[in-house]
Amino acid sequence: MRFAILASFVALAVAHAHDSTAPRRKSLGFGPVHPQAEYRSSPYQITTNGFVPQEVGSDPFAVARLFIEDQLVGQLSESLSYRIRDDSYTDSNTGITHIYARQLVNGFEVADGNMNINVKDGLIISYGNSFYKGLTSEVLANSHKHHPHREYCSQLEAEMGDRNAELRVDSTEQTVMGSRPGVHHELRTLRQLHASNNCEGKDIPYQFHDDSLVASEAGDVRAALLQFMLAATPNDKVQGDILSNYDHYLEKMSLTPEHHFVSTGEPIVMKVDNVPDTVNPVRASLVYVQVPNEAGDATELHLVWKMHVEMQDNWYEAAVSAQSPHRIISVVDWASDAPVPTPEPSAPATYRVFPWGVNDPTEGERKHVKENFDALASPAGWHSIPAANDPSLKGTQSSGWKNSTTTWGNNVFAQENWEGQNSYITNYRPEGDSGLYDYPYNPKETSRDEGQAEAEKYINATVTQLFYTTNMVHDLYHRYGFDEVSGNFQQYNFGRGGRENDGVICNAQDGSGYNNANFMTPPDGQNGRMRMYLWNTALPFRDGDLEAGIVIHEYSHGLSTRLTGGPSDSGCLGWGESGGMGEGWGDFLATTIRANKTYSDYAMGSWAANTEKGIRNYPYSLDESINPSSYQTLDKPGYWGVHAIGEVWAQLLWVVSQRLIEKHGFSDTLYPPLPLENGTIPEGDFYRPRVGKKPLIPKHGNTLMVQLVLNGMKLQPCRPSFFDARDAIIQADEQLTGGENFCELWKGFASRGLGQDAAVIGRTPWGGGQRSNGYSMPTACVTME
Ligand SMILES: *[C@@H]1O[C@H](CO)[C@@H](O)[C@H](O)[C@H]1NC(C)=O
Ligand SMILES: *[C@@H]1O[C@H](CO)[C@@H](O)[C@H](O)[C@H]1NC(C)=O
Ligand SMILES: *[C@@H]1O[C@H](CO)[C@@H](O)[C@H](O)[C@H]1NC(C)=O
Ligand SMILES: *[C@@H]1O[C@H](CO)[C@@H](O)[C@H](O)[C@H]1NC(C)=O
Repeated sequence: MRFAILASFVALAVAHAHDSTAPRRKSLGFGPVHPQAEYRSSPYQITTNGFVPQEVGSDPFAVARLFIEDQLVGQLSESLSYRIRDDSYTDSNTGITHIYARQLVNGFEVADGNMNINVKDGLIISYGNSFYKGLTSEVLANSHKHHPHREYCSQLEAEMGDRNAELRVDSTEQTVMGSRPGVHHELRTLRQLHASNNCEGKDIPYQFHDDSLVASEAGDVRAALLQFMLAATPNDKVQGDILSNYDHYLEKMSLTPEHHFVSTGEPIVMKVDNVPDTVNPVRASLVYVQVPNEAGDATELHLVWKMHVEMQDNWYEAAVSAQSPHRIISVVDWASDAPVPTPEPSAPATYRVFPWGVNDPTEGERKHVKENFDALASPAGWHSIPAANDPSLKGTQSSGWKNSTTTWGNNVFAQENWEGQNSYITNYRPEGDSGLYDYPYNPKETSRDEGQAEAEKYINATVTQLFYTTNMVHDLYHRYGFDEVSGNFQQYNFGRGGRENDGVICNAQDGSGYNNANFMTPPDGQNGRMRMYLWNTALPFRDGDLEAGIVIHEYSHGLSTRLTGGPSDSGCLGWGESGGMGEGWGDFLATTIRANKTYSDYAMGSWAANTEKGIRNYPYSLDESINPSSYQTLDKPGYWGVHAIGEVWAQLLWVVSQRLIEKHGFSDTLYPPLPLENGTIPEGDFYRPRVGKKPLIPKHGNTLMVQLVLNGMKLQPCRPSFFDARDAIIQADEQLTGGENFCELWKGFASRGLGQDAAVIGRTPWGGGQRSNGYSMPTACVTME
């Protein structure tokens, strides 16, 4: 692969432009494809590998270790090992234990070398494996073969030669135009990079220290970071500044290693301060990542700086070559954009809001709604928070609970953010009048210039709505298994496990953009951040906070990112098919939440975007003449971006879901009954009659589908393909119902080309490749219709 040094950021920007719905906010997302990653989802595939099921009562972690060691037999050594990640957990309803293992080579983590192993009753029911499969003895030899540092320097020299030649032509031919603007500047920059990266003469060898490979001077994280910021900053001025004051920026950054008193088994993290255009110190660690070899049939390991870079509008996890800082190997933006639809109501106080199920202001009136929090999901209601977990009290009070009188609670902090900055604690939020949040919403038609000011007049109403909707979503997803151990968003976890202090920061009327919304999902234990924008698509302006579908879509990014690949890995839905499904789940869940017993088609974001067809290419519909999307649609021009891919996935789920509704009927509410005083959850008309200790099974088609979708997220591997996610849903049904919907699910997927014989060749990091629809199903399903 060739990388042009000054052009690297241009190339990235172009890559992103494939996304036809790309927002103005810059967002990078790409990375290598792993030719050898696999996902096996049926016990048949697994036992034929020779692994013997263990006893029913076996410790699932012991079973997983045995399994890993069985898989790696003959390979485990001092230079190749693994660790079980501490975000592994057991699902309390299904009883499946989801175990995450990370590969270690030469003492370094392989950041994308993961196994997710799903264990039930001593049996490995499915697993994904993206471990590096080459020989560890080749790793060092490979790095030496590549001489990445020398490559980097010679590439700099070649580019300096090009610029010099350009200048020489100018001076001999006396061109009328003079030299290309900027060429002097570029030459100076290249010279600076050359000097700053120790390219003068000496070839820097690897050094061995404490039995481990340590980065040479050329592996200075600061150089890698500056190179990344050149690519990532959306601000031309910052870019120019870095290029003309390179050494100054380099020196200004300070490094602090973060040591833990007790070994955490995680890599040593460097904290880097004073990084241009970031809003918090960057955390970086030295790890390996896998890059496909030249033949494309296996991977090689590259030593990289894995960096968590928090910027105003992005939150990146980037891997930049430790020896060749111009090689940005992968980038995941934990921020997901998505224009989508509507608002909802409810609360433990009383709110005047558009009630749950009303997608937007055209679908219903605002009403008084009680704070009807779910006692299992939010035992303390929506407005209470332990003082020790309250960021507004940082350190001043460490015991007891605080009852807030504003839109501030354990799951959600909702406030205005007109400034569009990252602070939120002291931002304005409405104060309930003895628990009553009742505020006017009657925007007047104004001139465009006054559109924003007019919207600001109903900030009390809009923050109230955002608080209500996001809390409803929190409670709903909790009841389907997005709970504390699986990485949900709460300041306090009620002693139920998982990492805390990560409620969602919800910004209403955020000043950092228009006509969009986004959600940033860092790993479990760090706050999610939702930003809702005004839409200037009509007068008066429309407010995304009031369209529930948009809010639900955004919150669902947090759901799918935390459930896929484990709570602590936020890098599993970064780009291509998996990034696309990250969008699709949100559309599907938002649409399912607004649907009622009488079937209709639905478009996303129609109200906010002020267009009946909504913001996707098609409304979600069973009618192929209205929505013709099939698996192969992904090959069409314009389908490289995550939103277009997501639309295809959401359509597939919508079609599958209707098959389940046909078979099992429709439940008017998606909320399960509340637990009784002794903790038992009654079946009501919601669950099927419980059989012994078997998991609770939603009775109706729409509720069952939501359950299967969430359970599938937990089963699927990191960076799933459409095939993996389909197989995970089918396995989720096998585990929950004994596979009684096996054929409905296959028929649904196959009807839109994702049957057994669907195929793809030449998948690319951006979601490209050549796909063919497959309509075939397992023989068991090909009976007379
Ligand atoms: C918070 O409200 C609850 C319920 O009204 C009450 O029992 C509790 O004492 C209050 N806590 C504080 C610290 O005011
Ligand atoms: C929001 O509500 C408060 C208290 O009810 C009120 O004083 C304030 O003027 C309201 N803000 C706006 C912009 O209407
Ligand atoms: C069901 O939803 C459709 C589409 O939003 C709507 O037209 C219809 O009135 C709804 N029916 C009920 C009973 O709410
Ligand atoms: C809980 O209470 C219900 C209703 O009173 C009862 O049917 C059930 O057996 C109880 N469950 C347990 C575990 O005690």
